[in-house]
Formats: sequence, structure tokens, C-alpha cells
Amino acid sequence: MSASLELRKLRKEFGGLVAVNDVSVGINPGEVVGLLGPNGSGKTTVMNLISGALSPTSGEVRLGDKPVQHTPAHLRARLGISRTFQLVRLAPSLTARDNIVLSLAFGRDPVWGPTAHERAEAALAKVGLPGLGDVEVQSLNYIDQKRLELARAIATRPDILLLDEWLAGLNPTELRTGIDLIGTLKDEGMTIVLVEHIMEAVREICPRCVVMSAGSVIADGPTSEVLSDPAVVAAYLGDFEYA
Ligand SMILES: Nc1ncnc2c1ncn2[C@@H]1O[C@H](COP(=O)(O)OP(=O)(O)OP(=O)(O)O)[C@@H](O)[C@H]1O
Ligand SMILES: [Mg+2]
Repeated sequence: MSASLELRKLRKEFGGLVAVNDVSVGINPGEVVGLLGPNGSGKTTVMNLISGALSPTSGEVRLGDKPVQHTPAHLRARLGISRTFQLVRLAPSLTARDNIVLSLAFGRDPVWGPTAHERAEAALAKVGLPGLGDVEVQSLNYIDQKRLELARAIATRPDILLLDEWLAGLNPTELRTGIDLIGTLKDEGMTIVLVEHIMEAVREICPRCVVMSAGSVIADGPTSEVLSDPAVVAAYLGDFEYA
């Protein structure tokens, strides 16, 4: 069953730098939320705190009513949190299928063998790579590697999907495909937190946005309102990428 995600006064310091400054955000099951902000504002750090790649200095990450901020990443994956990385992280010499099979073995409801193969093929088909399970990752082009990363993230059937600039670097045609693909997951009721600099995509995919600046949340609300908020425009000055 899908659970809500709540960040309570979440804080992460790196030495003297406050990368995430007491961030409080609640996300309901099935919500699709854009996490925006200029470079270095703390977005990836928040994603890392949600996925378990990092532990907070203080504050909580709650999944449903359960605090998980000190739960290791692989156990959070089992609780239904899945992610893609800002820079694609796949095992290049393995096949597309094996990259997914590997994550299925460690994911939620671990599966292996023929069941894992079937799940991997289904996930590949879903992201537009049907029948490409035998292809080595290193011979896939960029968009297909991105698709594979998404396939790997959704194969475990997560409740909450964290996408860190998953659309970055795509050409306009690929971008269209990528936006539609995320739309499909959204329609299926997956909760999605999307870090994205491409505003066209954010406007289309995310009904709600949270904006960070220098580690703090400076706006949270309906996307069109947030994007016209003077404080947001000021924080972003010269930083928007209009696609
Ligand atoms: N592991 C780390 N050690 C030290 N400082 C870090 C670490 N990770 C991030 N930072 C710093 O924390 C701040 C926030 O970084 P973060 O990567 O979260 O930003 P971001 O909003 O994702 O930026 P971008 O849009 O460029 O991806 C930056 O100043 C960054 O240099
Ligand atoms: Mg980042």
C-alpha cells in the first residue's frame, strides 16, 4: 500500500556548509512534486536523504508514520523508495536485463531466476525497450541508458520514485518521449519527486512544486503560482533553462 512521505525539519550539514536547512515538506500518496532550485541549492542532497544514500544531521524522513532517516538505503528500497541518479549509474558490461535483475534481487519483495527475468522484460517494455534485455549497456545510446535506469527503478514496483534530472541531456524528441513516460507512471498512481531544470517538463508533469534556495524551502504550492512567485524568480535569476 502506498504511504505518504514527510520531511520534518530535515537538515544536512557538510562541515560548515548547511546543504539542507530544516526542510519540512509533506507529500501525499500519488502526488507528483517538482523539487526545484538553482544549482547547489540542496536538491540532490534532499533526494539522497530520502533514498538513504545520506543520513541527516537532524530531522526526520517519515514514510507513512514510520521514521526511516536512519534506515539503510537497501532497506528503504524494500519499503518502496526507488530512485534514478543525476548521473546515470549502470553496470556497463552487463546486459540491460541483468542490470534490472540485480536490483530486483535487492529490491522490494526480492525475486530472482525466471520471475526476475520476466519482471525485467516487462519493465524494459514499459520504458520503450521491448526485447532489448540481451543488449549490453555500453552499446545503448544515452536516451536508452536513461530508459534502462528508469526501468530498473520501476521494476521493483516502488511506491515512491525519485527522479534526479532524469530528463537532462535529452533532445526535443526524446524529451517528449521522456515526459510521456513519466506521465504514464503518474497515471498509475506512483508518487514521484522530480528534480528538474527543464521548466516545460515541470509545468506539464508536476501540479505542485517545492523550490529550494541555499538549502531552504522558499516556495511550496501549485506550480504556476510558485513559478511566478517573485522570491522564486529572484532566486533563479539567470538560472532557468527554458526548453
Ligand atoms: N558529499 C558532499 N560533501 C560536501 N558538500 C556537498 C556534498 N554533497 C553536496 N554538497 C554541497 O551541498 C550543496 C548542495 O548540493 P546539491 O548537490 O544537493 O545541490 P543541487 O541542488 O542538487 O545542485 P545541482 O542543480 O547542481 O544538481 C552544494 O553546495 C554542494 O557543493
Ligand atoms: Mg543535483
